Amino acid sequence: MLPNNVNLVEVGPRDGLQNENAVTLEDKIRLINRLSQSGLKHIEAGAFVSPKWVPQMAESDQVFKQINSNNDVIYSALTPNLAGLERAIECGVKQIAVFGSASETFCQKNINCSISQSLTRFESVIALAKQHGMNVRGYLSCTMVCPYEGVITPVQAVNVAKKLFDMGCYEISLGDTVGKATPNRVESLLNQTLQHLPKKAVAVHFHDTWGQALANIYQALTMGINTIDSAVAGLGGCPYAQGASGNVATEDVIYLCENLGIETGVELATINQAGWEICRSLAKRPISKVALALGDPYALKN
Ligand code: HMG
Ligand code: MG
Repeated sequence: MLPNNVNLVEVGPRDGLQNENAVTLEDKIRLINRLSQSGLKHIEAGAFVSPKWVPQMAESDQVFKQINSNNDVIYSALTPNLAGLERAIECGVKQIAVFGSASETFCQKNINCSISQSLTRFESVIALAKQHGMNVRGYLSCTMVCPYEGVITPVQAVNVAKKLFDMGCYEISLGDTVGKATPNRVESLLNQTLQHLPKKAVAVHFHDTWGQALANIYQALTMGINTIDSAVAGLGGCPYAQGASGNVATEDVIYLCENLGIETGVELATINQAGWEICRSLAKRPISKVALALGDPYALKN
């Protein structure tokens, strides 16, 4: 049965912009401020990762210090280790996310350690975050397909998801990092996951590289999942997953949900405006089909 409402987690300023080189600090701040006016309740605003690994996120400290925070919005950040968490604390970040993988090879490529080493690292990150009253989200990459290892079984993914949950992550976001999964794989993964995790602790995070994201989201919705990650304008990708293009577009998810009678609480027009604005700064067009159908509100006005 479809849920009555969904929580959208906007990952564009992090998952989207981590793959873009030509973004200024001002562009990032303008984007987050605009998104903050849309009704979104959760915006992933940056990542405290190594600037040598992902230079695009090096300014996250400044981003968090300079945005106009809306009290109704959670602004979270990725923190792979204690060094990242300490930076987050220093900037007053209230919620963080750790990010692991169901695939050994992807884990090595993305965070330079094995799955078991990553879990050990996360334990200390989660413990310190909790001391600071922070909620911790857990991401799991390559839950169905890995760019290096191919198909990942639901059992492999659920094993790590369960560990992250047991360690204290309030929600596990199941990622299709390279966007190759199809609804049958989503169904198997969620069937297994929901035997071990409560539904409210499960989110889905689909990249649209192979054009399957909306179909996969529909599959997840029919299974009662009501937290969906998406990125304005369909920005996105992962520098350590070759070929991983944009996340599913927030505009497209809102359109789908609204027409299914599922409330998002987010204004499509504001997201569309934010998407065209950041794309103008990036000198490209949105990937979102809905944004293209609606058109650029600035160009339409002038
Ligand atoms: P490492 O090189 O193994 O770490 O990186 P290290 O501890 O040996 O440190 C090396 C250097 O980095 C040192 O500096 C540290 O101080 C510095 P040096 O002594 O050489 O001058 N360093 C840091 N600096 C700032 N902030 C930090 C930090 N940590 C170390 N937090 C590490 C290990 C995890 C840090 C690195 O591999 C890394 O940053 N990886 C992040 C990769 C990343 O951001 N990937 C994209 C996000 S994940 C994603 O997109 C998937 C997701 O969307 C879900 C999905 O789609 O599946 C979430
Ligand atoms: Mg991602």
